[in-house]
Amino acid sequence: MTSNAALQPDPSPLVACTVSRDVQNFDLLIEDMETALGDGWGDLGFAEALAFIGQLDAESLEFIAMAIDEEDEENLVLLGEVIARAKARHIKVILIAEDVSPAALHQLLRTGADEFVPYPLPEGELQSAIERITGPEPEPEYTPAPTARGGHGDDREGVVIAVQGLAGGAGSTTMAVNIAWELANVAKKDETGPKVCVIDLDLQYGSVSTFLDLPRRESVYELLSDTESMDDESFQAAMVGFEGKLTVLTSPTEMLPLDLINSEDVNRILEVARRNFDYVVVDMPSTVVQWSEAILNSAHVFLAMLEMDMRSAQNALRLKRALQAEELPFEKLRFVLNRAPKGIDLNGKARVKRLAESLGISIDVQLPDGGKQVTQGADHGLPLALSAGKNPLRKEISKLAHQLHELGQNEAEAAG
Ligand SMILES: Nc1ncnc2c1ncn2[C@@H]1O[C@H](COP(=O)(O)OP(=O)(O)OP(=O)(O)O)[C@@H](O)[C@H]1O
Ligand SMILES: [Mg+2]
Repeated sequence: MTSNAALQPDPSPLVACTVSRDVQNFDLLIEDMETALGDGWGDLGFAEALAFIGQLDAESLEFIAMAIDEEDEENLVLLGEVIARAKARHIKVILIAEDVSPAALHQLLRTGADEFVPYPLPEGELQSAIERITGPEPEPEYTPAPTARGGHGDDREGVVIAVQGLAGGAGSTTMAVNIAWELANVAKKDETGPKVCVIDLDLQYGSVSTFLDLPRRESVYELLSDTESMDDESFQAAMVGFEGKLTVLTSPTEMLPLDLINSEDVNRILEVARRNFDYVVVDMPSTVVQWSEAILNSAHVFLAMLEMDMRSAQNALRLKRALQAEELPFEKLRFVLNRAPKGIDLNGKARVKRLAESLGISIDVQLPDGGKQVTQGADHGLPLALSAGKNPLRKEISKLAHQLHELGQNEAEAAG
């Protein structure tokens, strides 16, 4: 590390600088910067950074890694200025944050930070962030993330993960958005991460776009109303990117009847999506519709979200009967109990067991109540990993994503 980059001219030009109140508070960052860049980086305070970035010496800088914690929230304006100055000089910004409020984080990302990594740094995260920002074509926010090399179908065979709430508000959109984000970030160091998209098929109350603060494109309606003319290009053009890592087909701008699309449309959409992405996460309306069957048939994993209430229990039973009557694959459903009683609550555990027994289902996943942070994060348009990385709900969803990913990889290996 080259200390005080601004003050001591160094013969070898600096490629990067950390910018923080005191870099010693972020020892993992120091380690990771050394691994990534050897001696080619320096450290700066916020005010120093503002001065230095304006200087000629800064010309070799490719990026700054701005590390902040709770205390720095008082200085949001200064932080924003540093980011803006860096952007003006085409220097990329990686934001590293520990215990920073979603509002502050959101504001800084809006100011133009290119990448966000939580602190303590997950293994390999800084390195991947550096690779992404120094790569050839960074993806601007709100543009469709290119879904394939050369923009054409990639002949992938994406895994379809459908999520449906068995009652309104059971957490389907929360699950869809967060599992997608966790899958997009599932890769280990030195691996290319899977390409992930979310398709919001809740045509009336779809809120994936709200949960990720994304605009809804007019072209979504055109796409859905004429899937026969859809191709890779028009599919991608209707999508929007989130933080360069996730691609989203939002629900349409207007509230539309659920039978705007039929099973054929759904099959076509899934086909294009699977060709272009490794994971296709579909958020479903909680109603059972004519094309639910198509989703159920195509889904590799179908997550049915329920809660510990009579409403969910009765709906689960009704859904079970309906599917069995139609000879549809009921056994595909993986029941996820949201806002499950805590592990130490023995009475709660017994109730979960009774619920599963009375419905004749197994409850495969239990998610804890994540409290207000969950709704607040969504209101700020961020997945939990970015708004409240340590939230217990996030931890469970992340675990589930890793399990699904490993399962898929093992199957792929077994298949040769
Ligand atoms: N485990 C949880 N802990 C805390 N809050 C949660 C949890 N799961 C969901 N929520 C909150 O509950 C509300 C409903 O969740 P969400 O919108 O994901 O449900 P949904 O099934 O998609 O609802 P809809 O039927 O409206 O589509 C949201 O405000 C969300 O932030
Ligand atoms: Mg929803």
